[in-house]
Amino acid sequence: MTILALETSCDETSAAIVRDGKILSNTIASQIKLHEEYGGVVPELAAREHLKNVLPVARAALDEAEISLAQLDAVAATQGPGLAIALLVGFKAAQAVAFALNKPFLGIHHHEAHLYSPWIGEFEKFQPNVSLIVSGGHTLLVLVESELKHRVLGGTIDDAAGECFDKTGKLMGLPYPAGPLIDQLAEQGNPNAYDFPRPLLHDANDDFSFSGLKTSVRYFIRDHPALLDDRQKVCDLCASVQAAIVEVLVKKTIRAAKREGVRCVTASGGVTCNRALRHELERACKKNGFVLRLAEKNLCTDNAAMIGILAERKLLAKTPLPPLDEEIQPGWVLA
Ligand code: KG4
Ligand code: ZN
Repeated sequence: MTILALETSCDETSAAIVRDGKILSNTIASQIKLHEEYGGVVPELAAREHLKNVLPVARAALDEAEISLAQLDAVAATQGPGLAIALLVGFKAAQAVAFALNKPFLGIHHHEAHLYSPWIGEFEKFQPNVSLIVSGGHTLLVLVESELKHRVLGGTIDDAAGECFDKTGKLMGLPYPAGPLIDQLAEQGNPNAYDFPRPLLHDANDDFSFSGLKTSVRYFIRDHPALLDDRQKVCDLCASVQAAIVEVLVKKTIRAAKREGVRCVTASGGVTCNRALRHELERACKKNGFVLRLAEKNLCTDNAAMIGILAERKLLAKTPLPPLDEEIQPGWVLA
């Protein structure tokens, strides 16, 4: 089965061709530079950029995969959640292609696609797991009981983990998105230099909260402004903030996995690129006897390949297809 998938939920325009569980191409036009000067994603600019890029990116994905439109068996796109005017671009373009080719169209939940991204290429190894989805927009813990059957255990009640990286980085004067830079600077810093709160670490539920941590970093910088002129201290600050975020994510994930009785932990989403998070998850899973599956780094951040792969799994599972006049669902909550 050969599928064209489009993803335009936020600030990456991506198109992919997947065939029989394999990614033949995964083209991404990133808008990071465009939004950098605003310190965050500007929806109108994102939508205009998607409009400009969606067809060239789709063309590039087809060319790289050496696939013609006539060879497609289905078309898929992210249906939600995401920025409405950004989602519309990829969703409508993909529906139009499906309409013209008279092929099935699948609207895909962005987080559900993240959930299965650690299994791409190895679905035969699938086993029930507790999955951590951590990105700029979302922080979720999900019990994946079997393929295509999952239950949300908890999520953030305020800021997402990636948002916490980005906003604390902004307070330190780092450009958007600060997550990858904090990761780099933290490598030369001492994670025990400054003590920041670990929100909801000992709460009985599986929820997260990161806005209090951001506020304590704000007050800390307000009270120690000279610190930002000292490179080593900035590295220490990055390492300390990162350690607080990572400790909460890892401990709550492991605790949920123990309670739910699964033997496997997975993680995906942009923040899963973070080296400290990957390392600490590996360490904790080894210690507690869990198999760990992390999405590959190029599949952690937003991409159309994960959308296409999930669409193919749904077609193979004979999931009923919605009518072609379905609309985007910007606020779609993972069931
Ligand atoms: O999944 P993604 O590409 O987009 C969303 O759906 O949000 O995730 C982007 C987020 C940003 O907040 C970015 O700062 C964060 O992932 N991120 C990182 C790293 N790489 C990306 N955060 C920490 N360390 C990284 N290495
Ligand atoms: Zn995402």
